[in-house]
Amino acid sequence: MAEIRLVDIEKKYGNFLAVPKQSLTIVDGEFLVLLGPSGCGKTTTMRMIAGLEDITSGDILIGGDRVNDKPPKDRDIAMVFQNYGLYPHMTVRQNIEYPLKLRGMAKADRAARVQETAEKVELDALLDRRPSELSGGQRQRVALARAIVRKPRIFLMDEPLSNLDAKLRVTMRAELKHLHHELGVTTVYVTHDQMEAMTLASRVAVMREGRIVQLDTPKRIYSEPADLFVAGFIGSPSMNLIEGAIRGGVFTAQGVSLPVTVSDRDDVVLGVRPEDLEIIQRDEAPIQGRLYALELTGDSTLVTLRTGKASVCARGPADFEAEINAPCHFAPKPGVRIHLFDRTSGQRIDGDAAQGTAA
Ligand SMILES: Nc1ncnc2c1ncn2[C@@H]1O[C@H](COP(=O)(O)OP(=O)(O)O)[C@@H](O)[C@H]1O
Ligand SMILES: [Mg+2]
Repeated sequence: MAEIRLVDIEKKYGNFLAVPKQSLTIVDGEFLVLLGPSGCGKTTTMRMIAGLEDITSGDILIGGDRVNDKPPKDRDIAMVFQNYGLYPHMTVRQNIEYPLKLRGMAKADRAARVQETAEKVELDALLDRRPSELSGGQRQRVALARAIVRKPRIFLMDEPLSNLDAKLRVTMRAELKHLHHELGVTTVYVTHDQMEAMTLASRVAVMREGRIVQLDTPKRIYSEPADLFVAGFIGSPSMNLIEGAIRGGVFTAQGVSLPVTVSDRDDVVLGVRPEDLEIIQRDEAPIQGRLYALELTGDSTLVTLRTGKASVCARGPADFEAEINAPCHFAPKPGVRIHLFDRTSGQRIDGDAAQGTAA
């Protein structure tokens, strides 16, 4: 186990600045998720930690040691990638054993360690198969076993679940979480899937264009997004974002009129999550429009109304029914958080002051 410190690291590919200068400390034993859309620099950041990519400037410290000039094999890191990277001509046993063999561990010790690790990821019945005889989930478990067999100080995982089908992804997510609880190894995990990030992470670093725009616990990333980008990226369905202005303590847009505790200003974006809205019958509702669509998700119905150019979505009860184009009214549930952002900078405004009022 070890702390990882990135100090003013920067990465350029020729003239292209992939990761602008920034610092990040990953606490010993934590599960840190780098989250962001494709191309935002997640893999680059991880490959720099691994030593697979040179850093243009800055320092990387692992367990207090500067490792800038250390090759990957001397950093005591194990990696799991999206495409598993298993050796097809080797059995499961040989694949898992390989890192131990590379490090010259005695044969009897290797066998014991492989057995112990295989049991941990429930592969002990499959040790004599080859990767081609395994399902995607089983292959991913072999890749995982090969990473943990050596008991490294650090795990680096780059979208390890993205090749699996949706159901398996959820199962493997729970397995990864359990494994981290059991081993306590400092883990850096890369994903573009916000649900994966929220469920796995002790802290999430949300990245955009190479930059970390928010570093926080999943709870705070959800409840207090730092800017419009994070607000729109986290949550499913996404947070409703409505452009308007504040006049006399009321946020105003076409069909929308919501009291807020922020002084008058133009160019404001109000954010409210679908799960924080309820459908009400009153005519003087804070959000008014016409029903645009109903989507039953199983345990709830996503209700979308249109007002002017804006669509607003609320998560309503599963049995909600109404005619399309009928008048439709929403209000924030009592006590929920209303978010306000500056439209130009995208930054959150007075995070704590903007509180929803009881409907
Ligand atoms: N070897 C490379 N040469 C030039 N540009 C690269 C190279 N690797 C990555 N990039 C660029 O750096 C940016 C970040 O890439 P990457 O870290 O792979 O993003 P992510 O993993 O978040 O999808 C992208 O714009 C990508 O095109
Ligand atoms: Mg990537």
